[in-house]
Amino acid sequence: MSMRFPTGFLFGAATSAYQVEGGADEDGRGPSIWDTFSAKPGAVVHGDTGAIACDHYHRVETDLDLLAGLGLTGYRFSIAWPRIIPDGTGAVNQKGLDFYRRLADGLLARGVRPMGTLYHWDLPQPLQEAGGWANRDTVAHFCDYAQVVLEALGDTVPQWATINEPFCGAMIGHLQGRHAPGQVDLAAALASAHHLLLAHGQAVGLARRLAPQAQVGIAHLLSDISPASESAADADAARRLDGYENRWFLDPVLRGSYPADMLDWYGRQVPLGFIRDGDLPVIAAATDFMGVNYYETKIVAADPGEPYHQARVLPQAGRLTAGGLDVRPAGFGRILRRVRDYAPLPLYVTENGAAFHDYVDPEGGVDDAERVSYLADHFAETLAAIGDGVDVRGYFVWSLLDNFEWADGYSRRFGLVFVDFGTQARIPKASARWYAQLIAAQQDA
Ligand code: FCB
Repeated sequence: MSMRFPTGFLFGAATSAYQVEGGADEDGRGPSIWDTFSAKPGAVVHGDTGAIACDHYHRVETDLDLLAGLGLTGYRFSIAWPRIIPDGTGAVNQKGLDFYRRLADGLLARGVRPMGTLYHWDLPQPLQEAGGWANRDTVAHFCDYAQVVLEALGDTVPQWATINEPFCGAMIGHLQGRHAPGQVDLAAALASAHHLLLAHGQAVGLARRLAPQAQVGIAHLLSDISPASESAADADAARRLDGYENRWFLDPVLRGSYPADMLDWYGRQVPLGFIRDGDLPVIAAATDFMGVNYYETKIVAADPGEPYHQARVLPQAGRLTAGGLDVRPAGFGRILRRVRDYAPLPLYVTENGAAFHDYVDPEGGVDDAERVSYLADHFAETLAAIGDGVDVRGYFVWSLLDNFEWADGYSRRFGLVFVDFGTQARIPKASARWYAQLIAAQQDA
């Protein structure tokens, strides 16, 4: 435990609204695409939904005490659009705004710096019925929503992530079909990706106007991707998969253009007319930071039978998480350096963590030694990257609490704090104590 981070480094944890709040019908909240998707038979493990989740909506004060008690200096949460504008457009629900004002004020009162995420996948259902993110009109509706939020909270919340992981919202939701809205349609996926990026760029502009003192950026999911062999075919497949998952999102935001090889590749499959003149400069609006969400390394081989990218991710091997992902901290270091090489922006690790098979032992504790070692390795990678000149300013562990892990329902526990969903008891795991000690050691030194 001798890791020393730069003074002011933010030690946080992250959650998102639909995954923790519950209170689905409370105080005027409208339905989101995740309420609809999780109600579909077979969409989520065991038919789980986020209707109750961690009941955080009702337990916000005690959850704030819990995170402050661990000594966290930052907390990243998301605002549920369906609580603020329940129909997606039109009337604003003051009770929704009040909830997030209490949350933000409660963090500040406890000396914890809030980071708000404007969109973490819970699109109001009425907007999906009008075409969702594949429909360009959703961008304008998002801006109306973002304006309401920034006007109400822009003076309280010092840092905003616009969109969480546009890759997942677009591609897992509209091409892989594993997330809401559950479509499998390349044209819809690419249009959604573009509109999510445009929503990001427009929100940056709004934040500049409505919350000029706030920092604003985007949170990208980035995976470390490499070819399975030295063959040209595998190298091409890895390049395409990297184009699909990383470059399609990094290039527009950081360079103001889509990657030429992928434009060509996709343009041969579907029309790309949704990219209009003038969009890319908006998407490339200067930001104050970039958020990096890191979970995976992928080894990729050519696969002519795979329809979209003719690429296949090889099965993972080695130290695996409960989700079957390889534990490879070196990939994290590569990603941090790669983003730095794109643009010298301050970086925040807006998410990193892992699911393990956590359980309460007969003594009443949760001894998640695997997570302790996972976090120690990933924090060490971050420190090494900082030593190499990468400007990492903070780290939000995913997640504060075990929660509703999307299509995996309650079967994947990512929390520093164990949640017994039946009773809503919270039990800090060994990793929470490890993290609290890491944070405390910074102050002692
Ligand atoms: C990320 C999501 C987050 C959580 C983690 C495990 O892709 O942003 O909500 O589900 O994965």
